[in-house]
Amino acid sequence: MVLSKAVSESDASLHSTFASRYVRTCLPRFKMPDNSIPKEAAYQIINDELMLDGNPRLNLASFVTTWMEPECDKLIMSSINKNYVDMDEYPVTTELQNRCVNMIAHLFNAPLGETETAVGVGTVGSSEAIMLAGLAFKRRWQNKMREQGKPFDKPNIVTGANVQVCWEKFARYFEVELKEVKLRDDYYVMDPEKAVEMVDENTICVAAILGSTLNGEFEDVKRLNDLLVEKNAETGWDTPIHVDAASGGFIAPFIYPELEWDFRLPLVKSINVSGHKYGLVYAGIGWVIWRNKEDLPDELIFHINYLGADQPTFTLNFSKGSSQIIAQYYQLIRLGFEGYKSIMENCQENAMVLKEGLEKTGRFNIISKDNGVPLVAFSLKDHNQHTEFEISDMLRRFGWIVPAYTMPPDAQHVTVLRVVVREDFSRTLADRLVVDISKVLHELDTLPARLSAKKTVSEENGMSVAAVDAEHEVTRKITDAWRKFVLDKKKTQGVC
Ligand SMILES: Cc1ncc(COP(=O)(O)O)c(C=O)c1O
Repeated sequence: MVLSKAVSESDASLHSTFASRYVRTCLPRFKMPDNSIPKEAAYQIINDELMLDGNPRLNLASFVTTWMEPECDKLIMSSINKNYVDMDEYPVTTELQNRCVNMIAHLFNAPLGETETAVGVGTVGSSEAIMLAGLAFKRRWQNKMREQGKPFDKPNIVTGANVQVCWEKFARYFEVELKEVKLRDDYYVMDPEKAVEMVDENTICVAAILGSTLNGEFEDVKRLNDLLVEKNAETGWDTPIHVDAASGGFIAPFIYPELEWDFRLPLVKSINVSGHKYGLVYAGIGWVIWRNKEDLPDELIFHINYLGADQPTFTLNFSKGSSQIIAQYYQLIRLGFEGYKSIMENCQENAMVLKEGLEKTGRFNIISKDNGVPLVAFSLKDHNQHTEFEISDMLRRFGWIVPAYTMPPDAQHVTVLRVVVREDFSRTLADRLVVDISKVLHELDTLPARLSAKKTVSEENGMSVAAVDAEHEVTRKITDAWRKFVLDKKKTQGVC
């Protein structure tokens, strides 16, 4: 006689999670559960829900690194429990940060001697870096105005309307007016002439972008510098420049070494760069570098004395992970100038392959420039039948995440699709994407045909022409509503 034996649900060694009650019950969403669950079950359930996220490697919407070498992954995991701020306890990590600051400052041509220490700090990303740089400009300007007995309550920053949302955050959080130079048709970056016209005595800095988020284009920092030098000479002001090199800071030094955009220009006082973009580290690391000590007012710095040396700290958060700093140091010494250069060249070449493939379809205008951030921004030549939003939506079915968005004022009537070419986006993937975009176009092209076919059938079925036209009108209205929805969205929803 076979006796059936009930196995205890808590006997994890015998049970598969899928045979347990944990996959039968809804997971709590609002309140912490009363009881514990086995670690295997917790892992399985969370891991499985996360399967519904997109695949980061196919996320062509983001500049942020999605692949690193397994050796670096190992370093990251082994330092995951180190709080960066415990500098006394982890002096080597602090030292690695300082080495990164020095290397990046040299890369940006900071006026430093061979062994002179640079002024800069690691941050969570370019947003924090920009907040710190902005605060330094604001404080310097306030000190100057105070000394001159002038009002110092209405600071402003001049930028292009194409700035990333972090600049709007800075302006709102730290009460600085953002004076944006409007874009125009076929000119999607800040016009240096217009920017300098907008500068007044209350301008704490002009922010130029090396690699616009929207189309990757490098703004003309040299022209801006030259115009501002003239205006400063005429007015007696000393308006400085900050370069937001979130993406371009790790591109230009390697593939456009002749381009003058950095500390070679006298008015450039600070630069931010995202280590987690073309610095080739996973999300969570940025850098801000100042030209000189004098550009970072001392009253913003908190001094920590570690191991007998003065450790200045200037960050918005106190605690943070150490892994990304260690990973940045790994990349800098592992790849060296040679390695970064080869990777950036590959990205640029693959971006060109993608651009040419898209041009061959005959359906797109290319909005990006060949010599900017390796990305392709493009828009449909003909919007009569379909929109970029539909293409973006249909590409999801192939696994690709390609954002569609509208340009800021005064180019808000232009919608673009943008593909960021990262290190791990190889030629094969570029070719494949062109094939899939062509399939989507083909499928979209059949839609009106399908509607016409439907019309014939409808007419045969006794449906009036007016009714069919009404159906077309509904389709058009849905597309318009979708477009309006995106147009109405502010930059707080912007691409990054
Ligand atoms: C030009 C520019 N500045 C700043 C940022 C913000 O960078 P982070 O995500 O590193 O905070 C981005 C993000 O894409 C960007 O493109």
